[in-house]
Amino acid sequence: MAALIKDVNLDSVKAKPLTLKIHSDYIAAYGENKEEYEYCMTEYLRMSGIYWGLTAMALMADLDRMKKEEILEFVRSCQDPVSGGISSSPGHDPHLLYTLSALQILSIYDEKLSDQEADKVVGYIKSLQQPSGSFVGDKWGEEDTRFSFCAVASLSLIGRLHEIDLEKATNFVASCMNFDGGFGSRPGSESHAGLIYCCVGYFSVVGRLDLVDADTLGWWLCERQLPSGGLNGRPEKLPDVCYSWWVLASLCMLGRLHWVDKEKLCTFISACQDSEGGFADRPGNMPDPFHTLFGLAALSLLGEPTLEVVDPTFCMPRKVIDRLGLNPQRLTVS
Ligand code: FPP
Ligand code: ZN
Repeated sequence: MAALIKDVNLDSVKAKPLTLKIHSDYIAAYGENKEEYEYCMTEYLRMSGIYWGLTAMALMADLDRMKKEEILEFVRSCQDPVSGGISSSPGHDPHLLYTLSALQILSIYDEKLSDQEADKVVGYIKSLQQPSGSFVGDKWGEEDTRFSFCAVASLSLIGRLHEIDLEKATNFVASCMNFDGGFGSRPGSESHAGLIYCCVGYFSVVGRLDLVDADTLGWWLCERQLPSGGLNGRPEKLPDVCYSWWVLASLCMLGRLHWVDKEKLCTFISACQDSEGGFADRPGNMPDPFHTLFGLAALSLLGEPTLEVVDPTFCMPRKVIDRLGLNPQRLTVS
C-alpha cells in the first residue's frame, strides 16, 4: 500500500507573481491601529513582532516606511533596569527571545546601546547560563537550545561573545545532536527543523560548524521537501512557509542549499501570498508578520533579485551583518 503523505494540493492554486508593494503596505499598516484586537492580543511578543516587520521591510528596501523614532523609543523603554534584560513590552518580564529581537532592531537601525546598557545586557545573559552550559530563556524557564542561539547571537551583535563560558555552551549544544544528524531542544529530544536552525546558527556564530554531521543533517533537511514543493519541520507534518526559512537557512549555513528543488519551493512560497498582502503559513490561510518575514527571507536565500540579500545565521540584511564586521561561519561544498 502506498504511504499517504501529508501535504497541500496546489493544483487549484493559481501561480502568483511576487508583489512586494502589497506586502510593504501590509507591514506598514500592521499596528497602525493600536486599539485593534489582534494588536492588543500580541503584546506579549511585541518586540519580536517589530523585528519581523522591520526585517521584512529592510529586505524589501522599504525601511523608511517604519516609524524609526517611535520604534527606538519603544525598544529602550523595554530594558529592565534591575536585571538588564529586555522584555516584549513595558511591564512584561525580560526574556532572551526579546533581548535578541531588540538588539536585532537596534543593529538594523545602526543604533548602539550605551556602555552601561550593554554591560547590563551582558550581565543578564550571563546570569541565564546554567552549570551544564545551556541557557534558560528567563529566570523561570527551562533550558532549550533556542536560548543558546539567542544568547550567542545577542552577544555577537554587541561584540561581547567571549563573556560567557563558550566551551561549556558549545558542549551542551553538541550534546543535543541525534543519530539522524538533527537537533532538538535538549539532549535526547526529537529533531525539529526550528531547533536545528538554532543549533546550526549557534555553531555558525561561534565558528564550530565542524561539530555538525553536515551530510547526514543535510539529507534529513532535504527530506523535509514535500511533493507540493513546501517544507515541513518534522516527518509527517504539513508544509509551512516558516519552515522554508528554518530548513533553508540551515542548509545554506551547511553549504547545501542546492540540495532542495528551488523552483518548486518558490512556487509553494509564492502561493502563500495573500491577495491583500502578507504571507500565510499555507495557501489560503490568514497572513501574519511572522510568516511574511520568513517567506520573504526564504525567497531572498533562493536568490530573488528584487529582495535584499539576507544573512542565513542572523536573519537580518547581509549588509547590516557586514557593517557590524561579523563573519558568521558557512560551510562550502562542491
Ligand atoms: C518553530 O517553533 C520554530 C523554532 C523552534 C525556532 C525558533 C527560533 C528562535 C527562537 C531563534 C530566533 C530566530 C531568529 C530568526 C533570529 P513552533 O513552536 O512554531 O514549532 P511547531 O511548528 O512544531 O509548532
Ligand atoms: Zn509557521
